[in-house]
Amino acid sequence: MSKKILITGISGFVGHHFVGKSQPNSTLFGTYHQHPVHFPNITCYPLEITDTDAFIALLEEIKPDTVIHLAALSNPNYCENHPEKCQEINSAATFHLITACQERDIHFIFASTDLVFDGKKAPYSEKDATNGIMTYGVDKAKTEHLAELMYPNKVTIARLPLQYGWCETAPNFLTSWVKALKSGNSIKAFTDEYRTAVWVGDVVDGLLLLANQAAKGIWHLGGPERQSRYDFAVELAKILEVDQKLVIPVLQKDIKMAAARPADVSLNSEKANKIGYAPGVAAERLRELLNR
Ligand SMILES: NC(=O)c1ccc[n+]([C@@H]2O[C@H](COP(=O)([O-])OP(=O)(O)OC[C@H]3O[C@@H](n4cnc5c(N)ncnc54)[C@H](OP(=O)(O)O)[C@@H]3O)[C@@H](O)[C@H]2O)c1
Repeated sequence: MSKKILITGISGFVGHHFVGKSQPNSTLFGTYHQHPVHFPNITCYPLEITDTDAFIALLEEIKPDTVIHLAALSNPNYCENHPEKCQEINSAATFHLITACQERDIHFIFASTDLVFDGKKAPYSEKDATNGIMTYGVDKAKTEHLAELMYPNKVTIARLPLQYGWCETAPNFLTSWVKALKSGNSIKAFTDEYRTAVWVGDVVDGLLLLANQAAKGIWHLGGPERQSRYDFAVELAKILEVDQKLVIPVLQKDIKMAAARPADVSLNSEKANKIGYAPGVAAERLRELLNR
């Protein structure tokens, strides 16, 4: 029987990559807020995530089997400067959504982050304790914890790593790096910040895998390799065949940011790999994305 999957925040960077992912065994629906989207084969609805009544009305209309909850304030610096807003959108609203799903026996997948960790003991597995060092990460960890306590039999926590991808309508750091490098402009990249970055399309496949298998508990959807931001940028420069000296190595302390950044939040994702999550390495994915 076909599964109905409702994706909140489908108008964001991750959400855009669900386009084309409708499968014979699943029908996708989505919500947007300030950026209306119209996608083929995905019915999308406007939704303010704090409006629980509107969310319940959507659940009653669509009757989804699974909700993948992406909608969030996703910028750590913004969250650091607006902690109350972060708590309202990323935590409080999520609890109301979970309650509504619990009352209807709907599987709930919460998009969390590698930034729930402090970066001192990577690589992190699902069993490691969280200890975020900025408002965004602390808030996501708190939400994870309460989500599991509230609805243990049907909540999935998907910890997502740093993602890269190409999307003109929802650009991310790759877009600006490619544009700068192709124009001969330099970019600065941290040599002391390590992540298991991954192509966003692979993460979407991972989220659909978790939805289709109704996998509960915590899952890491990290990429297959640990790289510094600098290593990643040099790889990109090589693929674009531009001067690698355009990538300027910097330390985290050289760039002033509102939110503190952990040194190494690489994820161990073996648990997800065992059920079929198979993200590609950056060199291969970047070549595909950039037609190189
Ligand atoms: N991108 C990454 O590298 C990354 C890494 C780790 C975790 N994550 C997590 O993955 C999820 C998706 O991230 P993303 O990169 O796609 O974020 P994004 O591009 O910033 O998109 C955020 C989405 O949330 C929606 N939204 C924000 N405030 C809302 C509100 N008040 N009511 C309803 N919808 C609201 C936005 O809708 P409109 O644009 O229509 O307003 C948009 O669809 C987030 O939970 C994020 O924390 C992302």
